[in-house]
Amino acid sequence: MIQIKNVVKLFKTKKQSLKAVDQVSLTIEQGEIFGVIGYSGAGKSTLIRMLNLLEKPTEGSVYIDDVELNSLSQRELRKKRQKIGMIFQHFNLLWSRTVRENISFPLEIAKVPKKEREKRVQELIDMVGLQGKEEDYPAQLSGGQKQRVGIARALANQPKVLLCDEATSALDPKTTDSILQLLQEINQQLGLTIVLITHEMHVIQKICDRVAVMENGRVVELGNTQEVFENPEQQMTKEFVKQVQEVGLRSGGLAT
Ligand SMILES: Nc1ncnc2c1ncn2[C@@H]1O[C@H](COP(=O)(O)OP(=O)(O)O)[C@@H](O)[C@H]1O
Ligand SMILES: [Mg+2]
Repeated sequence: MIQIKNVVKLFKTKKQSLKAVDQVSLTIEQGEIFGVIGYSGAGKSTLIRMLNLLEKPTEGSVYIDDVELNSLSQRELRKKRQKIGMIFQHFNLLWSRTVRENISFPLEIAKVPKKEREKRVQELIDMVGLQGKEEDYPAQLSGGQKQRVGIARALANQPKVLLCDEATSALDPKTTDSILQLLQEINQQLGLTIVLITHEMHVIQKICDRVAVMENGRVVELGNTQEVFENPEQQMTKEFVKQVQEVGLRSGGLAT
């Protein structure tokens, strides 16, 4: 479904050049929830942004359904992008538009007729559980509700892939879990492929089928989530696994 082959991203400034992504190759299967974890600066956002060509690889290629993104014309790329939804840490909503209008926005861009648009927006509002909030503005919503608008908007044009860049990092633990649960439901109901990047192992543990660990632009470990948890090989992975175990111990301690 998604193939990343020998991808390199070099950022050049006047003084220096920086390899944000360094020879990454990955295959992400249709319908899976694929996690990428790493500390800040590891290259996660740069990698995920190359999956919809918001960033262009310096070297290597990205294929979605066997089509190389780089080979597409501007027009074809716009069409392809409609099939790749994305959500963000700070939601990126339009503040002067209501919930309904935010969700409708990508449908307007795709020139979906009004009647059809209204029907689709209502379906999406039901899907993400925002009934009753249709006429609210983003500023009137909680963080979790804002992310639900983000998810509905990302799903408007029935994408095959949903990219999540630290989508729960601005949320408290309880809200994080409710958003992860929603993502899991959507994955199961729609067969949607989800690529999720995070610096929190808890997020990976909760919903990802497989996980790649990134450090200095490289994937240093890759595997089935449960196997990586049981048997982390790299030092960095061990640190991330420890994160979850410590939180588990702490909350276990509080409960007794
Ligand atoms: N547009 C850019 N120009 C120059 N350097 C960048 C740019 N975007 C990211 N970087 C650098 O690339 C590295 C990886 O960044 P990023 O992909 O945002 O990491 P992460 O999402 O894992 O925190 C960082 O050192 C960052 O400063
Ligand atoms: Mg990032």
